[in-house]
Amino acid sequence: MKTVNVGLIGAGFMAKAHSVAYAGMPMFFWPAPAIPVKKKLVDINEAVAKDAAAKLGFESWGTDWREIIDDPDIDVVDICTPNNVHAKIAIAAAKAGKHILCEKPLSLTTEEAKDMYHAAKAAGVTTMVAFNYRRTPAVQLAKKYIEEGAIGDILDFRGTYLQDWSADPDSPLSWRFQKEVCGSGALGDIGTHVVDMLRFLVGDFEAVNARTATYIPDRPVQSGLADSLGNQKGSANTERRPVNVDDQCCFMVLCKNGAFGTIEATRNAWGRNNYITFEIHGTKGSLAFNYERRDELQVCFASDEDDRRGFRTVYTGPAHPYGEGLWPIPALGIGYTETKIVEMYDFMKAISENRQPDPSFRDGYAIELISEAVLASAVSKKWTKVKSIEE
Ligand SMILES: NC(=O)c1ccc[n+]([C@@H]2O[C@H](COP(=O)([O-])OP(=O)(O)OC[C@H]3O[C@@H](n4cnc5c(N)ncnc54)[C@H](O)[C@@H]3O)[C@@H](O)[C@H]2O)c1
Repeated sequence: MKTVNVGLIGAGFMAKAHSVAYAGMPMFFWPAPAIPVKKKLVDINEAVAKDAAAKLGFESWGTDWREIIDDPDIDVVDICTPNNVHAKIAIAAAKAGKHILCEKPLSLTTEEAKDMYHAAKAAGVTTMVAFNYRRTPAVQLAKKYIEEGAIGDILDFRGTYLQDWSADPDSPLSWRFQKEVCGSGALGDIGTHVVDMLRFLVGDFEAVNARTATYIPDRPVQSGLADSLGNQKGSANTERRPVNVDDQCCFMVLCKNGAFGTIEATRNAWGRNNYITFEIHGTKGSLAFNYERRDELQVCFASDEDDRRGFRTVYTGPAHPYGEGLWPIPALGIGYTETKIVEMYDFMKAISENRQPDPSFRDGYAIELISEAVLASAVSKKWTKVKSIEE
């Protein structure tokens, strides 16, 4: 069986998720399209790199991402760094002929996203952006219902991603609050996951009308580059510096196919942890999903008898998308890890078939164009057209 040697860059939260997926993917999907081999892990912090390589099972470690690009044995570059270095690593990786898995959002700016897309296209390498939530079987089932016409023409939709880990004003000023490192706040960090799901389910976005807000204008300075996601607090004496990205964003969307919707993202919604939801209404029925109950899809059909009509629950299992590889009984429980395992399966399959998976860098670039329009609209307070991809 073909093996694929992986070099992973940035040894924080996502390095753990991706490493579990590399190890677990062949156990779920056998015969695996390729066997990933965890060759080398790099983090800018030497102690973190050394420790993470041992913990996550990499053969070697380093502190400079160029070691991975220059290593002829590496087939895949896996980018798990903060957003400010995605572009330079990905462009160098593409020029070196490596396949690339890049965490979301694809880049800091649309210009970077465009350059990443074109560099990968010119090199002919396989690319993927890690919008893993769309790989939840219930989300894939929603896509199947829509493609089969089960809910008719889509009229409108709503999507949310609500969290509360940054609602405390003393949670630190990590890279996720610094525009020069993250690009945007709640929008890029979590809103883009909902954008990806709704673009996948409903279709391309034509225009947006947005509002953004920064509720906590400054936060305590933190030491170190890794984000503790609100699990560490600054003391009363810690120096505070300004936040220059959105804590919250909310926008209306008009799709190219005429469907209308709203998307909301915040990391300051007390009581909400990973509240990713969507509801889609069509001429023949409705679909509703809540990631906090991610084994379930709620479906309602207009064709049901008047006295039976209402939402019912479909528990995903072996009969549903990816079910052949996941667990043998519905509702045993799909977790975050499974979404990453499925992501890795699709990425390895695309590499072995020499094609682009969804979402590729092209989709990542399209989502950067949507984010750009959202931020511009929040300033102009006007409907703003989403620019087209420059091929
Ligand atoms: N798909 C998802 O569900 C999901 C979830 C969380 C984060 N993310 C994305 O994953 C990426 C990483 O986020 P995270 O939460 O793992 O971050 P993190 O803060 O936990 O870890 C980032 C690591 O990158 C290292 N690093 C920073 N600059 C580097 C460089 N130039 N070279 C090498 N290492 C460098 C840091 O030292 C740190 O150890 C981000 O793009 C983020 O948006 C995606």
